[in-house]
Amino acid sequence: MSKPKITIVGSINMDLITVTDQVANAGETVAGTDFETLFGGKGANQAVAAARLGADVSIIGKVGDDAFGSEMIKNFEENDVDISGIAVEEKTPSGIANIIVSDNDNRIIIVAGANGKVDKIHVDQYTSVIKNSDMVLLQFEIPMDTIRHTLDICKKENVPVIINPAPVAELEREYLSAATYITPNEHERAQLFKMREDGLPEYYEQLITTQGFQGASYFKDGREIMIPPKSVDVVDTTGAGDTFNAAFAVGISEGMTVEDAIYLANDAAGLAVRKLGAQSGMPMREEL
Ligand code: RIB
Repeated sequence: MSKPKITIVGSINMDLITVTDQVANAGETVAGTDFETLFGGKGANQAVAAARLGADVSIIGKVGDDAFGSEMIKNFEENDVDISGIAVEEKTPSGIANIIVSDNDNRIIIVAGANGKVDKIHVDQYTSVIKNSDMVLLQFEIPMDTIRHTLDICKKENVPVIINPAPVAELEREYLSAATYITPNEHERAQLFKMREDGLPEYYEQLITTQGFQGASYFKDGREIMIPPKSVDVVDTTGAGDTFNAAFAVGISEGMTVEDAIYLANDAAGLAVRKLGAQSGMPMREEL
């Protein structure tokens, strides 16, 4: 079987991770237990995870002209991700995420930097890459106009596309309905469909919902079916959703059923959380 060709249009961040037993309140200083600078960004994480699972992966995005930018490009090369769709944005810092890991959970503040400059003109240069993909993956850490534009290209070129609406933002019905799959977590799903005229049932066929330690669900004949994960030892859940999305995309592109692709994605995400950092624990295909 030939490798599925997956293209990610998305964010690239350096994650500045602080581990602490106690999270500081306003005006308070507390001591943390560990600090690491590790590769992240939802787009980058999904690209690395898909490549480790055996896909032929390209990423379309931007980094800044700083040390983080060149390190992040090197990381893609080391993980066999095609970097021809990455531009270095001058006089701009790379995207970063400030992450606090505490009590099996995380809090994240992102600063877009170069990710905020991933515009339609940049994406247009890689239309042929998108056109030749088995699947395109989108998240919401680049400008929403660029997301809409990429969805238009996918629709025109008939390329399957997954919208991972994270962090959640509004998207009009015409764009949501253009997605092959929409993959929010349970909180994003509630926000995405809050007070909309087009209700949840309109999207049953497309919706895959990740639900943390419960696993992930999909709809079959109007009923929501939950697929539980195997039990896992959790060190850091950062990047679990990204690993899930990448593995789901790989599974579907290989011709798996939705149910089998969710099993694959649950397994991959379960392995990813064993190590600190979004990408550190992402498995190779042989590990699954
Ligand atoms: O999904 C996890 C990612 O979200 C982190 O790597 C961080 O960079 C933020 O973008």
